[in-house]
Amino acid sequence: METIRVGIIGAGGIAQYGHLPAYKNTPGVKVVAIADINEKKLAYVADKFGVPRQFTDYKEMLEQADIDAVSVCTPNSLHREMSVNALNAGKHVLCEKPVAVTGADAEAIIAAAEASGKVFMGAFCQRFSGASQVLKKFIEEGKLGDIYYVKGGYIRRRGIPGLGGWFTTKAQSGGGCMLDIGVHALDRMYWLMGAPEPVAVSGATYQAFKDNAVDGGWPPFDTRIGDVYAGIFDVEDMATGYVRFANGATLLLEATWAGNCEPSSYMQLFGTKAGALEDSRGLRFFGEEAGSLLDIEPHVDTKINIYEAEIAHFVDCIRTGKKPITTAQEIINVAKMIEAVYRSAEKNGQQIKISEL
Ligand SMILES: NC(=O)c1ccc[n+]([C@@H]2O[C@H](COP(=O)([O-])OP(=O)(O)OC[C@H]3O[C@@H](n4cnc5c(N)ncnc54)[C@H](O)[C@@H]3O)[C@@H](O)[C@H]2O)c1
Repeated sequence: METIRVGIIGAGGIAQYGHLPAYKNTPGVKVVAIADINEKKLAYVADKFGVPRQFTDYKEMLEQADIDAVSVCTPNSLHREMSVNALNAGKHVLCEKPVAVTGADAEAIIAAAEASGKVFMGAFCQRFSGASQVLKKFIEEGKLGDIYYVKGGYIRRRGIPGLGGWFTTKAQSGGGCMLDIGVHALDRMYWLMGAPEPVAVSGATYQAFKDNAVDGGWPPFDTRIGDVYAGIFDVEDMATGYVRFANGATLLLEATWAGNCEPSSYMQLFGTKAGALEDSRGLRFFGEEAGSLLDIEPHVDTKINIYEAEIAHFVDCIRTGKKPITTAQEIINVAKMIEAVYRSAEKNGQQIKISEL
């Protein structure tokens, strides 16, 4: 088995806590190069994880390093340029979420992926959780029937990532909590629903914590070496969205970085045969059998390391030619639904047609 050689672009929080340890624990793959504009952090991370080649210009890494694949772990607004350049250079790409900040960016990445014939995968790690895997299996076996309504969210009480850094600077992040954590909830629900065609979206955004914002501790402080915090906070700290699909189904989504609320990450699916709810108490199904209402609590593997599972899948796709779990259509439509939430919010909640994006 030939070793797959990987380069990482962006040596920050998710590279250090997700990708680098996961690649290290995956057989048949090795991180041989890393790129970051922050020289101090680059040197520290290369030393800590034993990465032999360092680059302050990722394009030089693409040209000069002997690599088969790339992980894109940089601020959101750079994902399009970096993914497209890596694909055009003949590399397989695993790109962090949100893959794209607009539908057009997602379409450009997918076009480059299709032209290159290389693997392109969105790093939607939550699809790999034990609960996600059990839910997907139940749905694929038809146990929920037709899913007609889904709601979910990612709710933090005081958890603004990198307050005053790139996460809260629209020019670099593309948006606030909806793009950052709402995208996890949306991607997972959309995938579980079987990716129906989105037709129209309405949404709202809020910035209620402008004068009362608290840094949530991500990226982890030990990964912030040499980072610039210019103090900008021009994105939303709460957002809601409502999506209508061509098959009649609807989806309700909420995301907060900060709110006077109970923190949670939850998802509820309504199907014609059964429903499902996942929240802090775990996963439950709500069905009916022999004339009785029946609740089922499946055993879920809670020990899965979702980053390792994600990277094992990426490596497997490269090795076997298997299609990645994230399809082109899912990546494009998730980006379009979030873009439509923002556009709707700008127009006081007016419904945005996906066909117009
Ligand atoms: N999957 C998850 O659960 C998860 C969790 C956190 C973050 N993320 C995503 O990962 C990405 C990075 O987030 P993070 O928390 O690691 O941020 P971070 O700020 O810790 O790291 C980003 C790194 O990119 C570097 N960078 C900036 N511009 C660059 C350039 N032109 N070339 C090379 N490097 C450059 C920065 O110097 C920094 O070291 C974001 O898209 C974020 O949404 C995903």
